[in-house]
Parts: sequence; C-alpha cells; structure tokens
Amino acid sequence: MDHRTPARRRAPRAARATLPLLALALLAPACTGGVEGKPGAAGVRDPYFPKLGNGGYDVTHYALTLDVDPDEQTLRGTAEITARATQDLSSFNLDLAGLTVDSATVEGRPAAVNRAGDELTLRTDAKVEDRLRKGETFRTVVHYSGSPKTITDPDESEEGWLPTDDGALALGEPTGSMAWYPGNNHPSDKAAYDLTVTVPKGLTAVSNGVMAGPPVTEKGRTTFRWHTAEPMASYLATLAIGEFETKTSTTAGGITVFTAVDPEVAEASARTIARIPEVVAWESEHFGPYPFSATGAIVEREDDAGYALETQNRPVFPGPPDLGTLVHEMAHQWFGDSVTPKSWRDMWLNEGLATYAGWLWGEEKEDTPADESFDNAYEDEDNWAFPPADPPSAAEISDEPVYGRGAMVIHKIREAVDDDEEFFALLRGWTKKYRHRNASTADFTAYVEEETGQDLSDLWKAWLYGRSRPAADG
Ligand code: TRP
Ligand code: ZN
Repeated sequence: MDHRTPARRRAPRAARATLPLLALALLAPACTGGVEGKPGAAGVRDPYFPKLGNGGYDVTHYALTLDVDPDEQTLRGTAEITARATQDLSSFNLDLAGLTVDSATVEGRPAAVNRAGDELTLRTDAKVEDRLRKGETFRTVVHYSGSPKTITDPDESEEGWLPTDDGALALGEPTGSMAWYPGNNHPSDKAAYDLTVTVPKGLTAVSNGVMAGPPVTEKGRTTFRWHTAEPMASYLATLAIGEFETKTSTTAGGITVFTAVDPEVAEASARTIARIPEVVAWESEHFGPYPFSATGAIVEREDDAGYALETQNRPVFPGPPDLGTLVHEMAHQWFGDSVTPKSWRDMWLNEGLATYAGWLWGEEKEDTPADESFDNAYEDEDNWAFPPADPPSAAEISDEPVYGRGAMVIHKIREAVDDDEEFFALLRGWTKKYRHRNASTADFTAYVEEETGQDLSDLWKAWLYGRSRPAADG
C-alpha cells in the first residue's frame, strides 16, 4: 500500500532572497577570561543532510510566538529557545530558511547574527560567556519576520510552509521546520514546545500537543496556544491555519482526541476520523502504551499537500484519509515520533515499522495475512532498488524500499522469533526502551539480538543491507 501521492509536483526553485545581515557593533571576541569557547558546529553530519542541526548545544524547549497574516502570507515571529551547552561555546548556529532576522539576544544581551544560506551564527559579548560553558542552560530569543517559503525536497516533494486557500499548512519532513522557525533542525535534538499563534478572527490555528487555554479574540484577531510537553523532533512540528471544524473528546484511556477538519472534506472524512480511538487502542495493544497525552488528526483539502505526514499527536492528511493511511500515520506515533531516528539514514525504522503496522491490521482486521503482504512486497520490483538501511541519496530516503523492504525486515524477524507472543513483546519492548528518545539501526539490530538471544547477522546482511534480492525464504 503506497500512501504517498506518487505524482510529485515539480515546483520552480524559489530564488533565495538576499537577506540583510544583522550588523551589530558587538563583535567583541566572546572569550576573554577563563576557558576558550569554540564555535558550535554548523551541522550534525547527517549522512543525507550534513548541514541540518547544529553542534554544541541541546535544545530543551521552544516557545514560539507567531502572528500570521494569511492574506499576505507573511508572519512575524519570536522564538525563545532554551538550550543546554554541550561544549564551551564562543558562538553557535541555528537553522533558518528564508525569513528575515530582525534582532536576537542570548541571555538577554544583544547578539550579532551572521547569515550564510540556512545557517545563522549567533555571537554575543563576553558578559554571557559564563552561560555558554558546557553544561549551562542559556536562553536565546530571535525576532524574525517575512514570507515563509515552501521548500522543495531532493525528491521534488514540497514541505516547509504551504499556502492553502484558507490559510497555510506547515510540514517539516525532513527539513521544513526551518521555513517557519529558527532552531536545531535535526531529529536527534528533541524538545518540548509552546506555540502561541495569532490569526484573523474566524480562522483556527492548530498545532501539536494540547490546547493550553481557550482561544482569545481581541481586535479582530484570535490567539491560539498549544503545548507539547513530550519531546518532539522538529520535523514533526506542524501548524495548520484555516477554516476548521474542531472536535475534542477523551478516549477510554484518558487521552485527549483533538481533530480539525476542513469543512469541505468533513463529511467525507467523518467515518475514518471517528475510528481514531479504535486505531489507537488496537495499536496500543500491539506496540505498547500510547506515548503521548493527546491524539487526533488534521484533515486539509486534497491539494493542500502531496502526502500525509505523522506530525506529532495529530497527523496531517491531505483530503479524507482512508483507514490504511490512518493506521500507518498513527503507528508512526510509536515508530518515529516517540522512538525517533538518530539520523535520516534510520528512516526505514519509521517507515518499515509503520508499513508493518498496516500489514498487521490487514491480517487481523481484513483477512490479508502478513505472509501475503510480504509476498506482494517481495514481488514488487520497486522494493529492490536499494537496501532499506542505505538509501543511495537524499532523494531516495522515502522511496519504496524504505517502506516495503523495511517491512519485510520486520516480517523476517517475526519468522525468526517464530512465536507471535514473543514477537509482539519484542515490539513493545522496543518502544518502551527508546520511548521519547532516539534510536539508530545499530540500536535496533543490537536490541533484537539481545532480546531474542539469536545471532541474526545473516538476516541483517540479506534483508537490511544486501544489494540483491534474497530467496523469499532465505
Ligand atoms: N513520512 C510520511 C509517511 O510515511 C511520508 C513523507 C512525507 C516522507 N514527506 C517525507 C518521508 C519526506 C520521507 C521524507 O506518512
Ligand atoms: Zn510513513
């Protein structure tokens, strides 16, 4: 089952706006006395996106305040970023694509901001040096504004800021969050979020987490506040602004269900959306306790995005979702959102396991044994283009092998375990061990071998890393 829209719209590459450098007369060397700080790295050397993320600090909290004008497609924003230094810093970077930085402070002191492409370098004066020592927590405030841009990925799909007929939709896999706020834009640095968004009265602003109070309308504008307590990767942050029919309820297990559906697709979405609690309950049985305090969905119009996305708590669907897509995106709440890849090379852990969730649903609810889904995937040539744990390029991290062959790896593990009770305990143990954390492919294979007590190196070699198609029973 391919839940992505295969036809990608090719968008003209937006000309990179020339951005005024913030010239501050404060470029005094950051380190006078004590320990010499070093610049934080401009990237975390992701194998596919080396410039994403930044070194030298770890964000614990983002407080974003946005004022959005959907008619003009502009915003004014303030990002308050609380981070802990992981080295002595003389300067550090944030990722931001487009937009204009109006001013910035670190620990309340003006910071000089240098800009090169999507990298901001912030440097402050000697007075805050002590706060940028390894282990210290420091607060950065960035004021910014402009027209957020749509980012075209290496595979031609669009993310970042997507204007819609009635507002806008922000999607961030793999890089798009930096189109609407500055931060440490890599899945390896998860953080809590508070988002305050003001939009014209009559529109709704929906994001991750839970509503932190009732919307407040003043002078024709309404402010919405969203709180995400559990750690969230930047690629899973979302913001949907538009006309929405919203509903709040609570599951039997006490999880808040918040859904926002575009009125144009409300009727066509109702049946599937009503099954969210059932899907969450079924997946909780198989994958362990639901990892967040809230769930739900955001349903936009079909043309508003080219694909569904597992945004935390509240996946986004372009048009009425089918049940299979709902099962897939919800499974990502465990596989991807709670247990998050360490790098974009570990993508198959997201997509392989979420695809396998669909195979399990097919087996238990729709009389399609997982063996049959496996056979279909095995026969599909597209799944054999490359090994799932090693996509050849950034343009291929969301191609078929990552999904279908990734799921085949999970099925092979199930066969090796040869006991469904044990197999599901293995999945639940995985989500428990790495709950709200990051995990790599090596973490996964080590975990499976340790839990099963089996040497599975042949399985990994053939199914996870091998270039050619192994025998189906190999
Ligand atoms: N993760 C999404 C899903 O499976 C699909 C997707 C959208 C994606 N954008 C992407 C995958 C970018 C990799 C990279 O539901
Ligand atoms: Zn997916």
